Amino acid sequence: MRLDKYISLTGNGTRSVIKSEIKKGAAKVNNVTVKDPAYKVNEDNDKIIWKGKLLKYNEFHYYMLNKPAGMICAASDPKHDTVLRLFNDLKIKGLFTVGRLDKDTHGLLIVTDDGMLAHNMLSPKKHVSKTYYVTVDNNIDESLIEYFANGIDIGEKNITKPAKLTIVDNNSAYLTITEGKYHQVKRMFGHFKLKVTYLKRVSMGDINLDESLKEGEFRPLYKEELKILEKYK
Ligand code: URA
Repeated sequence: MRLDKYISLTGNGTRSVIKSEIKKGAAKVNNVTVKDPAYKVNEDNDKIIWKGKLLKYNEFHYYMLNKPAGMICAASDPKHDTVLRLFNDLKIKGLFTVGRLDKDTHGLLIVTDDGMLAHNMLSPKKHVSKTYYVTVDNNIDESLIEYFANGIDIGEKNITKPAKLTIVDNNSAYLTITEGKYHQVKRMFGHFKLKVTYLKRVSMGDINLDESLKEGEFRPLYKEELKILEKYK
């Protein structure tokens, strides 16, 4: 793997900043300063020092992906492209997405190989909130704020848990929910005969989508974000 990629994957910042710092002599491979960002390192055997500190691959891996539409959240699928294909180059075994987004949904996905974290973040007991930016095909009436706050019947055993709707304009809003029922956002708006035309997850708990990630791009979670995840463990 390239030296700049390795340093970025171990959570040390963006590729472009890392590249320029490598050129200035911030990286050592096996005790020798390497100024070529494209230098190939062996991530299993090489000793890589960044600004005086030995880098280690974490026991577990945590990434934030900006999911594009058109990909599904599955390990593999004979018919559909999967978001995990984007991670193939990393050659990390056992990566999966924390929860799922529909094929046509965009936005924040946490991808990890830490099963315990995923279990806890998805546990109904932890009430991890998820916020979506939604556009719909017709007017969003202000009365929906109260309906969503009180819970609605979407054909499940129980009504939906209190959800917070913040209307942006006639056709768009942010919706925060604490559950993850199948097609939940689409079904909640569908209950009011509104068809979701665009859906993007912008946050999970206190982790916000990094808007500098283009669709299909991912990055390791930063240290502050990993601290937030500790709460869910
Ligand atoms: N709700 C939906 O309807 N779809 C998603 O992908 C996520 C939440």
